[in-house]
Amino acid sequence: MDVNPAVQFGAYQNEIYFLGLGGVLPTMPMTYAELESRAQAALPPSVLSYVVGGAGDEATQRANVAAFQNWGLVPRMMVGAARRDLSVDLFGLRLPSPLFMAPVGVIGLCAQDGHGDLATARAAARTGVPMVASTLTVDPLEQVAAEFGGTPGFFQLYTPTDRALAESLVHRAEAAGFKAVVVTLDTWITGWRPRDLAGANFPQLRGHCLANYTSDPVFRARLAKAPEEDPGAAVLEWTQVFGNPLTWDDLPWLRSLTDLPIVLKGICHPEDVRRAKDGGVDGIYCSNHGGRQANGGLPALDALPGVVAAADGLPVLFDSGVRSGADVVKALALGATAVGVGRPYAYGLALEGTDGIVHVLRALLAEADLLMAVDGYPTLADLRAEGALRRL
Ligand SMILES: Cc1cc2nc3c(=O)[nH]c(=O)nc-3n(C[C@H](O)[C@H](O)[C@H](O)COP(=O)(O)O)c2cc1C
Repeated sequence: MDVNPAVQFGAYQNEIYFLGLGGVLPTMPMTYAELESRAQAALPPSVLSYVVGGAGDEATQRANVAAFQNWGLVPRMMVGAARRDLSVDLFGLRLPSPLFMAPVGVIGLCAQDGHGDLATARAAARTGVPMVASTLTVDPLEQVAAEFGGTPGFFQLYTPTDRALAESLVHRAEAAGFKAVVVTLDTWITGWRPRDLAGANFPQLRGHCLANYTSDPVFRARLAKAPEEDPGAAVLEWTQVFGNPLTWDDLPWLRSLTDLPIVLKGICHPEDVRRAKDGGVDGIYCSNHGGRQANGGLPALDALPGVVAAADGLPVLFDSGVRSGADVVKALALGATAVGVGRPYAYGLALEGTDGIVHVLRALLAEADLLMAVDGYPTLADLRAEGALRRL
């Protein structure tokens, strides 16, 4: 394991400086801007447009990132924050940090060997940063989970229209050792994505990232021929089962599928939080899908305080626009229990595989930790105290 929880995350910078004394320079970028530009040069065009792009003119996607600049941490001195504690309790699990990897459906394709889900799971094992594995993977969920090492993993469910298939996926995730089910609500239909439309490119329709379906007994039973014999028919069948436009009436059924913690992803309105809470979910995931689904929306960060207030103690996971350790700290200060990183780890993977992801995660954690040290906030509770964060 690269990240020893007993060691402060900020120590990553010492490693880098000391290696430099021997003439060794980091091969991975140290800024998000460089990470993005180098990864974009490395990814094949079809994968690139899918990962980089968003809905409409991508205004919401940009606003997600820009929103973090509206907030600033107020430094406190003479605190003696020599040791920082970033650990969190989530669903009864003790995690070394509040960071997690958001589900990224084509992460499998971002790796040079085409097995990015496995590479991501290995990065989770090495860092203690949990992976939320998407329903849309190159390798089946059982094989992904087998790479987690001691780090817990969460399974993200795109709820199929076939309830028996949904049940099968959830039960497979349970059997494979996943520790929670994240149900994504905002993607039962694909948003208008000009970059993908311009290339007439939608990876799943080309048969990519469907392993969880083609390996599933319920899905296979729907096919006249095995997917290995007739892949085209399997893709066509997938289009029939993929997106279920759920309503609140479906929540009791979802809840009944598993005793694992259930988290609803895509929630930005306090009233939706209350309904989710009433329906017995274990966590709320505040996100606008990184601006990939609906353009013309508010930045997800702006929704976070209202979601946290309505959650009233229920864990709140957050993503959309996190690009730096400072962003992680700000989301935590606004009340997020755990903070998800999305595109940045896909870019790390594109550049250097598992090592690339490990670098991206360690850099985020190091920056967050050092910021808490310098600004005098040794714990997450300190960060959340009145006056720690101010709107510009
Ligand atoms: C290429 C790509 C694929 C994604 N696939 C999924 C997915 O399969 N399931 C899901 O719930 N969210 C998916 N997301 C959304 C992420 O979980 C997360 O909400 C988003 O990346 C946050 O925005 P950011 O990466 O700009 O910070 C995907 C995001 C990207 C960039």
